[in-house]
Amino acid sequence: MQALTYHGSKDVRVENVPDPKIQEADDIILRVTATAICGSDLHLYRGKIPQVRDGDIFGHEFMGIVEEVGGAVTSVKKGDRVIVPFVIACGSCFFCAMNLHAACETTNTGRGAILNKKQIPPGAALFGYSHLYGGVPGGQAEYVRVPKANVGPFKIPDGLDDEKVLFLTDILPTGYQAVVNAGIKAGSSVAIYGAGPVGLMAAASARFLGAEKIFMVDHNQYRLDFAREHYGAVPINFDEIEDPAEAIIEQTEGYRGVDAAIDAVGFEAKGSTVETVLTTLKIEASSGKALRQCIAAVRRGGVVSVPGVYAGFIHGFLFGDAFDKGITFKMGQTHVHPFLPELLEQIIQGNLRPEIIISHRLALKDAAEGYRIFNEKEEECRKVILRPQI
Ligand SMILES: NC(=O)c1ccc[n+]([C@@H]2O[C@H](COP(=O)([O-])OP(=O)(O)OC[C@H]3O[C@@H](n4cnc5c(N)ncnc54)[C@H](O)[C@@H]3O)[C@@H](O)[C@H]2O)c1
Ligand SMILES: [Zn+2]
Ligand SMILES: [Zn+2]
Repeated sequence: MQALTYHGSKDVRVENVPDPKIQEADDIILRVTATAICGSDLHLYRGKIPQVRDGDIFGHEFMGIVEEVGGAVTSVKKGDRVIVPFVIACGSCFFCAMNLHAACETTNTGRGAILNKKQIPPGAALFGYSHLYGGVPGGQAEYVRVPKANVGPFKIPDGLDDEKVLFLTDILPTGYQAVVNAGIKAGSSVAIYGAGPVGLMAAASARFLGAEKIFMVDHNQYRLDFAREHYGAVPINFDEIEDPAEAIIEQTEGYRGVDAAIDAVGFEAKGSTVETVLTTLKIEASSGKALRQCIAAVRRGGVVSVPGVYAGFIHGFLFGDAFDKGITFKMGQTHVHPFLPELLEQIIQGNLRPEIIISHRLALKDAAEGYRIFNEKEEECRKVILRPQI
């Protein structure tokens, strides 16, 4: 089959690889009908995530038709049309029972620290996301093996186009979880840093939950324009406004700041020169620019919610300011599974239309070009979807 494979920083290729096979009784093989490139894939693409090997298949946002089922699979059958959460969860361990599927302690066998000869539980395995996260081949391919098929795949009713439901696999629940974690409700004010796909899904979710004022910070003006047009966000371009947090506070009542700030940027945030040097030299793993801005923009007693991915140390984390303001932090990989029934229902009702952010529709064979365009933010790129069959 054809699949998108990694060969080094900014070197991904679509090439022929062996077809996936059923390995466990609760596996299925899925024929992929649509898959997307995520901002998280860009961290892999730029060579910033450890333990990515030559030939690894990427892709954790995908859906398709069940082609083959293992002997123990009961919840889906051949021919079913499903979306698949990017998090691989067993559904029954200590964490899954708490609906913390991204913390599943059974699916990532390749990781975890040892304490007194006992394994400390790792987080869940993820599709196509390095050997740190289980080394499971991803779905930017014609076919993909889906483990834990009685738990993950989620059936989609007929009549809903792939484009409408594909983002249930990752970015829609991620934006939604970020907003739920931020405590957004009717009348809330929120500042969202990063107007990429995740930031846009957070803006859509904040509007859906009744947020009154949404500030959006980025420097890609076309993404800010989109957020203003579709989600009524107040755009702030950090190439033009040096301190976005200051500009946000000025627009809140009593100069208090916003109820919540969402960091939808993560560890590759455009930061100061010092930070760029430190992260390039790998002295520090992450840029703290977006996180510092979030802490500055939020009001006392507010929430900083972080869907953006972080790794290791960050420069200038103002813990004193966070303490002084009494801020709550919420963050992490998305616990996709529990959100799906509700989000699907809102898509069916027409209250959430995640597909409007799609800007590029390419054939799988052109995936490498898709990565390049998305990474370079060329052609006003917001989101790329790939189809193996075109
Ligand atoms: N928590 C999860 O489960 C989960 C799921 C999906 C994606 N993510 C993460 O969410 C983040 C965003 O993903 P995406 O698909 O939107 O990526 P993206 O790269 O398309 O978007 C990031 C945006 O942030 C902007 N940006 C850069 N520096 C900034 C700064 N200092 N202030 C404000 N904006 C800044 C960029 O211009 C860009 O538009 C990534 O880190 C990704 O890995 C996490
Ligand atoms: Zn993702
Ligand atoms: Zn589990």
